[in-house]
Amino acid sequence: MVEVIKRPEDTLNFGGVWHSDTTYLETPAMGALLYGVDIPEQGGDTMFTNMYNVFDSLSAGMQSFLGSQMAINDADNEAIRATRPLSTNKGLRATHPVVRTHPVTKRPLLYINKAHTTRFAGMSERESAPILDFLFERIMQPEFSCRFQWQRGSLAFWDNRACQHYPLNDYQGELRKMLRVSLAGDKPR
Ligand SMILES: [Fe+2]
Repeated sequence: MVEVIKRPEDTLNFGGVWHSDTTYLETPAMGALLYGVDIPEQGGDTMFTNMYNVFDSLSAGMQSFLGSQMAINDADNEAIRATRPLSTNKGLRATHPVVRTHPVTKRPLLYINKAHTTRFAGMSERESAPILDFLFERIMQPEFSCRFQWQRGSLAFWDNRACQHYPLNDYQGELRKMLRVSLAGDKPR
């Protein structure tokens, strides 16, 4: 169990960019449980987005193009580095399908995330950027997300294969303390 804590004097927000956990590993986390110990008076909600719905919103042509692509996922990508300067995951990198089939539901979903995905396999970052940026923007569209409002003792349990999350950093000067358990996952296919 890991403590996820933001103290009143902290300004950085751990993981403060849309992401799926540990996609820089060969076998990223299957899911996670997050338990609220100390919750700010106001703010500190977590957004979750549904990656099946994001995939379904794309045109058939785009779905087919993405379906044949692999992508590089990097622990030390610039977008996430800014949210955790003391990262111990330096150098970790994994290649995963851009569209993965969920092992339980057998449904396809979009499996790239702004925090870790840097480029398509076989393409440069510059070549990949226009399409990745388009997709990152799509992922942030509010229609695909819900917003979880914490209370002391709340427990969130998410499927890290099928959704992404974003912790809001709107409670400066307040304490937020959570406990997290990550569940082992399988290799995305
Ligand atoms: Fe996370």
